[in-house]
Amino acid sequence: MSKKYDALVAREKKVLCQTYGRYPLAIEKAAGARMVDLDGKEYVDLLAGIAVANLGHCNAELAAVAAEEALKLVHVSNLFYQPNQVDLAEKLLSTCACDRAFFCNSGAEANEAAIKLARRFMRTVRYKDAGEIITVEGSFHGRTLATLTATGQGGRIKEGFDPLPEGFTHVPCGDIDAMRAAVGGQTAAVMLEMIQGEGGVLPLAEDYVRAVAELCHEQNCLFIVDEVQTGMCRTGKFWAHQHYGVEPDIITCSKALANGLPMGAMLAKEHVAHGFVPGSHATTFGGGGLVSAVAAKTVEIMLRDDMAGRARELGKLAMESFRALKAKHPERIVIVRGLGLMIGIELASGGNEVHAELRKRGFICNLAHGKVLRLLPPLVISADDLLAFAAALDDILSKSKA
Ligand SMILES: Cc1ncc(COP(=O)(O)O)c(C=O)c1O
Repeated sequence: MSKKYDALVAREKKVLCQTYGRYPLAIEKAAGARMVDLDGKEYVDLLAGIAVANLGHCNAELAAVAAEEALKLVHVSNLFYQPNQVDLAEKLLSTCACDRAFFCNSGAEANEAAIKLARRFMRTVRYKDAGEIITVEGSFHGRTLATLTATGQGGRIKEGFDPLPEGFTHVPCGDIDAMRAAVGGQTAAVMLEMIQGEGGVLPLAEDYVRAVAELCHEQNCLFIVDEVQTGMCRTGKFWAHQHYGVEPDIITCSKALANGLPMGAMLAKEHVAHGFVPGSHATTFGGGGLVSAVAAKTVEIMLRDDMAGRARELGKLAMESFRALKAKHPERIVIVRGLGLMIGIELASGGNEVHAELRKRGFICNLAHGKVLRLLPPLVISADDLLAFAAALDDILSKSKA
């Protein structure tokens, strides 16, 4: 590593809370599906800031909107009506079957809003004392205390944070009988990711998702879909739940919503949204003028340029080449799974080594649970970049030992 890199790391170690296990890489700039490190080395980005820069890093159209808004209206607070916020809500709601939006600043906050709305809806609209939120094992819903508790993972992420909030139940993922046994009069909502992202790119089965949605309907509880990672065209449709033929009562979204500016949204059906009244919920920055304008432009470009179609086509191409790699290296690749440009390549062994070698060769992706190469590239990535990644992985697997 260079002196510049070492000096930066030494400074970081002194001043930042050490909450992140970082890759040994410092990024200075990024454009499209490329990133450049402190020493000028270029990388193909197959991570997009963890499913954020779906329209590519430093997208010129979005930069122009941000620059214009920076001199016009950045933030005035939700004490005022703001045109950009309403424009964004109209555009975003046109992509799904929800009717109302609440804007916030992150995925965890969007889920927090969903949990609060589900509980308050039960108490104030349905007059029912139902506060339980059911999620599945392996899920990830955020790091605030409530969303961390909702998260169906153990280990370090929950360690030391007791007491955790009450009213959350986890059931085994994919087991409809376990879900049936858990849902009852006390349940406010079931919350699911259609594809578990942090869990290692694990798509839920279609019949399971439909059965859960029906169960929620029968039992009069809400069906929340966490689209924080899967939303915004990533999986080949605007929303991942649209592959499953279900209509959530609440959708949560963040990551790619403003292509890199902090932004979250909770979308709800009309009758459900009545669970909130003025004063029930709020956030200072949510839906500010600048981020809302950038997010509205993001949605507009995604629809105009059919980014979902692009993710579908490129995803098909990538999937075919990774499945061919699995056929060639059956002892090294356990399974390739995903939808659109949300892809996991599960390795039998040597995950850390393969991941590090890919980085050395100029390809950035994530490694989930030490064994799943998780690919979430900008949707603007070229077919050539995807094929070059597949060729590099092929070469690494051919040359390295199992
Ligand atoms: C499915 C899902 N939900 C919620 C979150 C939390 O989002 P944030 O980190 O913006 O709070 C994440 C983040 O990775 C996520 O993948």
